[in-house]
Amino acid sequence: MPRCPAGQFVWNPKKVLIIFLLCLTASALFFVLKHQSSEAATWSDFDFKPSYKDEEDDDHPSWVKNDTEVDKLLGGILKGGLDEKSCRSRYQSAWYHKGLKHQPSSHLISALRSYEALHKRCGPYTESYNKTVRYLDSMEFNSSTNTECKYVVWTPRDGLGNRIITLASTFLYALLTKRVLLVDRRVHVSDLFCEPFPENSWLVPSDFPIIDEFDKLNKQYSMSYGNMLKNNLVPGPKNASSLIKPFVYLHVVHDYDDDDKRFFCDDDHTFLQEVPWHILKSNIYFVPSFFMMPIFQQHLDLLFPEKDTVFYFLGRYLFHPTNMIWKAITRYYNAYLARADERIGIQVRVFETEPDPFAPYMEQILDCVFTENVLPQVNLALESLSGHSSNRTKAVLVTSLSSKYYKTLKNMYDEHPTETGEMVQVFQPSHEVEQHTEKEVHNMKAWAEMYLLSLTDKLVTSSKSTFGYVAQGLGGMKPWILYRPEEYKSPNPACQRAKSMEPCFQATPDHDCKTRNWLDTGKVLPYVRHCEDMQWTWGLKLFGKDGES
Ligand SMILES: *[C@@H]1O[C@H](CO)[C@@H](O)[C@H](O)[C@H]1NC(C)=O
Ligand SMILES: *[C@@H]1O[C@H](CO)[C@@H](O)[C@H](O)[C@H]1NC(C)=O
Ligand SMILES: *[C@@H]1O[C@H](CO)[C@@H](O)[C@H](O)[C@H]1NC(C)=O
Ligand SMILES: *[C@@H]1O[C@H](CO)[C@@H](O)[C@H](O)[C@H]1NC(C)=O
Ligand SMILES: *[C@@H]1O[C@H](CO)[C@@H](O)[C@H](O)[C@H]1NC(C)=O
Repeated sequence: MPRCPAGQFVWNPKKVLIIFLLCLTASALFFVLKHQSSEAATWSDFDFKPSYKDEEDDDHPSWVKNDTEVDKLLGGILKGGLDEKSCRSRYQSAWYHKGLKHQPSSHLISALRSYEALHKRCGPYTESYNKTVRYLDSMEFNSSTNTECKYVVWTPRDGLGNRIITLASTFLYALLTKRVLLVDRRVHVSDLFCEPFPENSWLVPSDFPIIDEFDKLNKQYSMSYGNMLKNNLVPGPKNASSLIKPFVYLHVVHDYDDDDKRFFCDDDHTFLQEVPWHILKSNIYFVPSFFMMPIFQQHLDLLFPEKDTVFYFLGRYLFHPTNMIWKAITRYYNAYLARADERIGIQVRVFETEPDPFAPYMEQILDCVFTENVLPQVNLALESLSGHSSNRTKAVLVTSLSSKYYKTLKNMYDEHPTETGEMVQVFQPSHEVEQHTEKEVHNMKAWAEMYLLSLTDKLVTSSKSTFGYVAQGLGGMKPWILYRPEEYKSPNPACQRAKSMEPCFQATPDHDCKTRNWLDTGKVLPYVRHCEDMQWTWGLKLFGKDGES
């Protein structure tokens, strides 16, 4: 067994870290050999079983003391009375999230009920849907015609984290414009999430007339709003034609240009609101810009008096893991996390590959958790054979594509007692070396991991990661953000506590809609400001009252 140097250490995180890291290489190798079997067990715990046996797992877990006190409808955002067996997570999530951290406004609750009625009336294969879909066959639409139902179709781009934050953004757009949200069905959405709306599906039917166009949607697409503006295809003073195409493509991707960004200008919605079908593709959380649009402001103020709760409520309303994933989440939670006194999530997203950035990232993580008192330091002078002087336990859930961070933390707490006497256990459900967005099982694991992170009590996330945004948003948590190391040097300070739990809107519009001049959009409203994890003006985020909440 390799020994780390023993000695007396004063309270100095950095010093402990460096010495620890020096002996790490030797220990890590030894550790891999010693723990190979236990790691295999961790893997199999995260397998996805096809389904539940009937009646199994309907009871609340033993650590829930009084089930009748649990607010299963999440303050009223969820509609009661839906079938529980087909989507167990919908009503069971309240047990695991241990109550709501904020209360929804009555306006939000009634907006969701109205939306559900609209979705029922206009969803796939209803009379109104059939009528409106026919305009797509003829590709002609007279803008003076008023269709009963209008739609926004969401199509995916990039990783699962991006998909979740853009789907929530698109749903808010649907709520604000009274459009029906439909979702591209070809990306295993139904393997990941239950149907959120009662009585009719949110999936685009497979016989949708322009479904083959979805793959062609990009910045160059001729029917994108930006290109239509460039080609004078938008009716207005220059072109008074009332015959328009029945759909418009909204390109809300980080590479969008100033014309595409006119989607965030009030005046442009005079035309956009006429078009029955909006097809939207995005990879960014574009919610904050709606708060800067006078046409939506009043409604948004009523829906979200606490501005930084948008993703928290819309996420908890929309994203219910399917039974198969819920089973994996709850089995894992009950086996490893439920009994700890405190749960800590650490989400590591490494962007560099060569040379291996492990050492600076690991140093940064340790520096952060020790300095911010998220985890206790270890006493390297002692081995942990003697047991723990306190019965408090902390369970650490690490998510990363690599297992090195998990192994290092686990090794450290397995071999040495903590300064506080607490017991720290470290877990990692799964790891894959690269990100495989299209692989179904990869996305199922990623979703289960995001959800598990959202169930922790304290969260440490990597900056600019949508995976972390989803976890913090669903959990209603303000994470400690690990700044990205520059040039392989871990930054100082290693991390900083976020002031808002909202995701960051990266690649934000930066023009004034009226004057078309450059505008620092982070300085217009007190509750829409630049993100903590982005440089300078490259991101907008919603904050609570006075920037706190
Ligand atoms: C559980 O809570 C309900 C409502 O607060 C109460 O009426 C009931 O007595 C409680 N049951 C137990 C076993 O504590
Ligand atoms: C809508 O069209 C589908 C076939 O495309 C049909 O099965 C369905 O009955 C229609 N709905 C109504 C309400 O007529
Ligand atoms: C469009 O509809 C309006 C009102 O119904 C009608 O006056 C106009 O002639 C129509 N335009 C075309 C090109 O069909
Ligand atoms: C005006 O728009 C229509 C369709 O929206 C298009 O066919 C026509 O070419 C446009 N006219 C000009 C002058 O660009
Ligand atoms: C800690 O564990 C001991 C022995 O199991 C027990 O007697 C004691 O009550 C526990 N203390 C707390 C605070 O749970």
